[in-house]
Amino acid sequence: MLVLGVESSCDETAVALVEDGRVLSSAVRSQIERHAPFGGVVPDIAARAHSEVIDLVADEAFRAAGRTPAQVDAVAATRAPGLVNCLVVGLSWGKAFAVARDVPFVAIDHLEAHVHACTLPPPGAAAAPDVEPPLVALLASGGHTGIYRYDGPGQVRRLGRTVDDAAGEAFDKVAILLGLPYPGGPHVEQAARAGDPTAYDFPRARVKRRKYDVSFSGLKTAVLYGTRGRNQPKEAPLLPGTSVADVAASFQEAVCDLLVDVTVEAALEEGVSTIALGGGVACNGRLRALARERGEAQGLRVVLTPPAYCTDNAAMVAALAAARLRASVPGDDELARSAEARSELA
Ligand code: KG4
Ligand code: ZN
Repeated sequence: MLVLGVESSCDETAVALVEDGRVLSSAVRSQIERHAPFGGVVPDIAARAHSEVIDLVADEAFRAAGRTPAQVDAVAATRAPGLVNCLVVGLSWGKAFAVARDVPFVAIDHLEAHVHACTLPPPGAAAAPDVEPPLVALLASGGHTGIYRYDGPGQVRRLGRTVDDAAGEAFDKVAILLGLPYPGGPHVEQAARAGDPTAYDFPRARVKRRKYDVSFSGLKTAVLYGTRGRNQPKEAPLLPGTSVADVAASFQEAVCDLLVDVTVEAALEEGVSTIALGGGVACNGRLRALARERGEAQGLRVVLTPPAYCTDNAAMVAALAAARLRASVPGDDELARSAEARSELA
């Protein structure tokens, strides 16, 4: 079965073709350059950019897969959560394609797709790595951070989440504090390579009474005060002798330490034997290494989603749709589902 997936929830326009569990193509066009001058995603610019490029990205996906639109058996698009103006572009495009070709349509939750992405084989590999739910997944991206129990398509339960900033958002804000470019995550990771992760003792904050909830706002403030001095505004100059590398490494260590701890603990208490990492922050090498180290020390299987499927992509959308189609036939109501800013899973 050939499934076409479409993703346009934020600033990446993505189209992918997945056939019988194999990713034939995953085309992604990023808009980062258009938003970089503003230091964040501008919704109207993003929506317009999606409309401009979606046909081109789809052409690219079909060409790379060596397939034609007439061969598609089902279409899926992200419906929530995200910027509604942006979601509407991909969702309408996908629905129109499905109606015109008279094939089933599946509306997808972006967060569930990020979780499901851990079952995908690395780009170019023929076989999936045989990842079987139940598992506990850490989803850490720019917009969301949560710990989920995943029992298969449609069976996702949130166990915990950040009560303030998402992990990626914390990376992006700390990058700004350190004068690093947008989006900050990869730049903080790079700066951290030359730094000492023990140079600063930054907080790892868990929320009392809510077992797997975490907070990053105190960590962000600790970085601000650690680099500017107590009660200083972010516009204040860096304290003399501040090492950007040391701050980046210590901050990164605090985020990774906290997230891995909570994930491993949740898996052990849920009695599952697999943990998985997904979302843009799961590209982070230190997070991957620490999850492997601590997860394996507890006898858990650690599934690291291929980086190409951690950041926003449409292969995860098509793959989740294919899994849902295998489990049951979607009804006509899938075509009636509208774009929503929020998800029940957030
Ligand atoms: O999942 P994603 O592509 O988009 C959302 O759905 O939000 O995640 C983007 C986020 C950004 O905040 C970015 O800074 C962060 O993921 N990110 C990283 C790394 N690569 C991307 N954070 C830390 N280390 C990285 N290597
Ligand atoms: Zn995402």
